Parts: sequence; C-alpha cells; structure tokens
Amino acid sequence: VRSAPRRRRRRAQEDTERLLSAIAWALIAVGADGRVARWSAVAEQTFALAADDALGRPFRALPIHWDWAAVDGAIARCRAAAAPVRLDDVPYRRADGGEGLLGVSVHPIRGGRPGGVLILGADVTDRRALERQLALAQRLESLGQLAAGVAHEMNTPIQFVCDNVRFLQEAHAELSRLLAAYRALLGDPAVTVPEDRRGALAAAEETMELAYLLEEAPRAAAQSLEGLERVAAIVRALRHLAHPDHGAMVPVDLNQAVLTTLVMARNEIKRVAEVETDLAELPPVTGHPGALKHALLNLVVNAAHAVGDRLAATGARGRIGIRSRTVGDHVELAISDTGTGIPEAIRHRVFDPFFTTKPVGRGTGQGLAIARSVVVERHGGTLSFESEEGRGTTFYLRLPVARPAAGGQRDGS
Ligand SMILES: Nc1ncnc2c1ncn2[C@@H]1O[C@H](COP(=O)(O)OP(=O)(O)OP(=O)(O)O)[C@@H](O)[C@H]1O
Ligand SMILES: [Mg+2]
Repeated sequence: VRSAPRRRRRRAQEDTERLLSAIAWALIAVGADGRVARWSAVAEQTFALAADDALGRPFRALPIHWDWAAVDGAIARCRAAAAPVRLDDVPYRRADGGEGLLGVSVHPIRGGRPGGVLILGADVTDRRALERQLALAQRLESLGQLAAGVAHEMNTPIQFVCDNVRFLQEAHAELSRLLAAYRALLGDPAVTVPEDRRGALAAAEETMELAYLLEEAPRAAAQSLEGLERVAAIVRALRHLAHPDHGAMVPVDLNQAVLTTLVMARNEIKRVAEVETDLAELPPVTGHPGALKHALLNLVVNAAHAVGDRLAATGARGRIGIRSRTVGDHVELAISDTGTGIPEAIRHRVFDPFFTTKPVGRGTGQGLAIARSVVVERHGGTLSFESEEGRGTTFYLRLPVARPAAGGQRDGS
C-alpha cells in the first residue's frame, strides 16, 4: 500500500522523460552551479556529444563549436532578468562538420536554486537557406520582369537604328560610286574646266579629307552594325529568358537555346575560357524553352566557374565545349569543361539542393538541383556527368525527341 505513491511518482517521472524526449529541440538544462543537469537525445545528435560526456560537467567546458559569446550573453541576460531570451541565428558546427545555424532560446528555471537555465536549440540552417533561396528567387523574378520590360522597350529603337545604319551604309556606297563617276569625268582631258575651279575642288577635297572619309565611313558603319547586332542578341536573349513557361510545352530548338545561353553567359566565360560549339542538326524536342535555357545556363556557369578556379590555380586558360547530337530517340547536349573537375568525395552530392563548394555570393548550391528538376522531372530526360579531378567535367543533358502524336491529337502534349 505504501509503495503506491512512489510507483505513481516514478510513472509520472517516466512520462515526463518521454514527453521531453519527444521534443524535437536540443534540450539542455544547466544548474545554478553551471553544470549540465540534462542533455537530451536531440542535443546528443545536434552537437555530436553523448549525454554521458555532458551530464554533470561544467557547461562552459563542453566541446561545442558555436558562438559562445552570444550564448554566454543570452544566459547572463536570462539570469539577470529572470526572463526568456531568444537568439535567432547562432552559427555552430554541425555534427556532419558543416557550418549551421541554430535558433536558441534560454529560459530561467523557476523554483530551486536561482540561476538554473533551460536552453533549447533547433537547427534552422535549411530553413534559412530556403528563405534565402526564396528571397533570391523573388528578386530574380522581379529582376527578370524588369529585364523583360527593358528588353522590350529597347527592341524597337535597336531595330530602327540598325535599319538606319544599314541605309546610311548603302547610301554612302552609292554616293561613292557617283563621286567616282564625277571624278572620272573631271580627270578626262577632253573635258575643259577652268584651272582655278579645278584647284578649288582639289583644295576642298583636301580640307574635308575626302580620301580618308571614303575609306573610313564604311568601316564605321560596319563596326556600328556589329555592335548593334551584339546588343540585339542580348536583348533577344533577355526576352527569351525572362519569359516564364507556365503554358503548354512547345517545340524547342536546343541549338538555338545553346546559342542564346552562351550570349547570356558571355560575361562569365570570356575572361576564363574559349568556347567551342559543335552543333549537329537536331530534331526539335518538346519543352519549356525558358526552363531549359535556365538549366543550360546553370551548367555553363558552373563550367565557367570550374575553369576560372583552375585558371586561378594554374594560370591556364580553359576550354568550354558544347556538342549536340542525336542518340537514338534522344537528343544529347554535352557540356564539357577543362576545369577543376569534381572530387570523388562530393560527386554524390552535387545535385543536392544547397550543396555548394562556393563562397557566399558566388553560389547557393541550387544550380544543378534546378537543372536536374527541369530536365528530369519536367521533361522526362536525364542529366549525368563524368569528371576527372584536375582535368575537367562533362555534363550530359538528354531529352526525348518529340514524337509525332500517334493515332490523332493527344491532349496537352
Ligand atoms: N563543371 C563543374 N566542375 C567542377 N565542379 C562542379 C561543376 N559543376 C558543379 N560543380 C560542383 O557542384 C557544386 C554544386 O553545383 P550547383 O550548380 O548545384 O551549385 P553552385 O554552382 O555551387 O551554386 P549556384 O549554381 O546555385 O550558384 C558546386 O559548388 C561545385 O562544387
Ligand atoms: Mg551552379
């Protein structure tokens, strides 16, 4: 009879333990003496530190790699105010060795000796990365809209400036021919022109540097047209890329997509590599042109980064090759680079969202994840690669060839 309350108490305690272990947060209790009184299973996983190695030890002496200054400050503030204190993004080293972020809150433990605190921590790395990605996507979307608007506005003036320069070029050519005829006439000894008039004409030709004008004007026009063509290509590419593909799939010329992408990536590429294209005639594939170009652009930018890194290390300029061909009922694009190569140890992770070896600002680790989702999930294709460290990498993008619908129209294809 007497053991019933004790049994009840024990059961209550077990219940509490079970409840606590169900909390998905790392839960750490630190006593007034600064020693660890509780170290939950999630804390074990989060900090890669077993409860046996933490319990009873001074909290401050634990081998946790995080921003101790921030945590110490929070504990001090919590004790002083006897109120909870929250820390939003505390940098820490994750169990897998990577850098992570923790959301931490410190709560005073009431009752008992004052000074005890309960620390709760949850890994928010992925959430933060997602938020950043979302913010980036939103920024890119509004930038895309802006770019599309600007491109649209530029399209018309560029067109008529091009036309006008071409017109001036032709007019100049014809006027030159006419001028040559007049000069031939003047040079004819049978034609009599007073000497002083002849001299005045020669002086005028000299003042206006006629010979130079005749030679240079066509060159200036040709050069202008070349520059305008370049601007027009960029504008075209911007308009292509900015078009969202919410609609139905359409026939896509992959070679054209390659050329557009190269214009977009020109800036990334030109300092680090030569580009070689080897584009075979291809049957069209059905797809979302904008998404496919986005995927391609990610592959090309990766290649440019890889040759850039190699260039920085060895001083050797790189080569980026893009080859297209038909393989059975697929078309294949091979994007090769003579860059750093992908180390064996990370090959299985490169398609993971957020996996990146690049510093903040240069990469978010989304490129290949997006490319894969576009190619594999949205187009039923495949994306694979071969790589040799120190020599380079080739990505193979394969898409099924558009088949003429057998037995009448099929809906939505
Ligand atoms: N052609 C390549 N050569 C060498 N390494 C590559 C190549 N392509 C991808 N990688 C490796 O794979 C990682 C993941 O690539 P991914 O394109 O997904 O992300 P990222 O380039 O780092 O960032 P983001 O594309 O989002 O700007 C890169 O950080 C890099 O280490
Ligand atoms: Mg990338």
